[in-house]
Amino acid sequence: MVKIITVIFLNILSKFTQDFMAIGEGFGKVILFGEHFVVYGLPGIASALGNKTIAEVEPAEKTEIIDNRPETPGYKEKKKEQQEKSMKFIWKAMGLDPEKNPVKITLSGDLLATSGTGASAASCAAIARALNVQFNLGFDDEKINQIAYEGERGYHGTPSGIDNSCATFGGLIWFKKNLDGPNTIERLSAERPIEIVEGNTGLTADTAEVVADVAKKREENPEEFKQIFSEYEKVVNEARNALEAGDVERIGQLMDKNHELLKRIGVSCDELENLIRIAKENGALGAKLTGTGRGGYMIALTPGKELQEKVAKAIENAGFMVLRTSIG
Ligand code: MEV
Repeated sequence: MVKIITVIFLNILSKFTQDFMAIGEGFGKVILFGEHFVVYGLPGIASALGNKTIAEVEPAEKTEIIDNRPETPGYKEKKKEQQEKSMKFIWKAMGLDPEKNPVKITLSGDLLATSGTGASAASCAAIARALNVQFNLGFDDEKINQIAYEGERGYHGTPSGIDNSCATFGGLIWFKKNLDGPNTIERLSAERPIEIVEGNTGLTADTAEVVADVAKKREENPEEFKQIFSEYEKVVNEARNALEAGDVERIGQLMDKNHELLKRIGVSCDELENLIRIAKENGALGAKLTGTGRGGYMIALTPGKELQEKVAKAIENAGFMVLRTSIG
């Protein structure tokens, strides 16, 4: 609340100063159920993280991006070209010309720029919000979400829209990409917040590449994928009920099932399997990869501070970075 008031205050204050600086924010996300499956119009469940990316925009001689986000080493360099492409889509979607309206965009915040946290979507939403204020465009959240989606296209061609929806709206959402109409975004409320641990493999994945590999595999194995999709659909529908009922044991089992299906479509890797094993051996009720896979993060369900700490410590002791947070 204090943060929101501060941002509003700063934006109002800056209107009266010569060096007008506009600020926007975008949330990170964790996909609880449905990465990759959402690309094919199946439902997914995702939660925004408390961690955010902040974009500051101010008039400048020429348009440039200063990226001060904390990162997994190498992430920003690897994504630089995609970020440039993404910015082109954002300018276009907002009807702005970076040559005619040059600005300096500075990215910061406490969301780690890394695979699996929705870092690209959070930056797109933050930039769209800050430009919206800077140029007085009056866009609402729906429009900001559409612009963030366009920005996401720069990172991975055909995003489902789940990441930018979390980045823009926050909260716990049920998401379904409708292949011929507006997406379904429903707000869910968990019975109570549930502690989770996210373990970082330290590897940066290329979402476009992994999504394309899955599409190829599906083309080559249509019958197997049909079976996997139908199993997944049962998992996600049950997960929604379990989340709303606060049935943590069942949520954990369903996360494990979801991970098995993700393995079958070929998006896990040794590092993720190792972190998942450590989490399970230390009492996590369920664990799966989250986001693109083949690197990035895994998520472990660890209700209660004690279990959360035990699992987090075990992953840290094995030499990996963790994020302790909660969903719902
Ligand atoms: C990436 O965070 C999630 C994917 O399902 C891609 C997408 O939904 O656009 C792998």
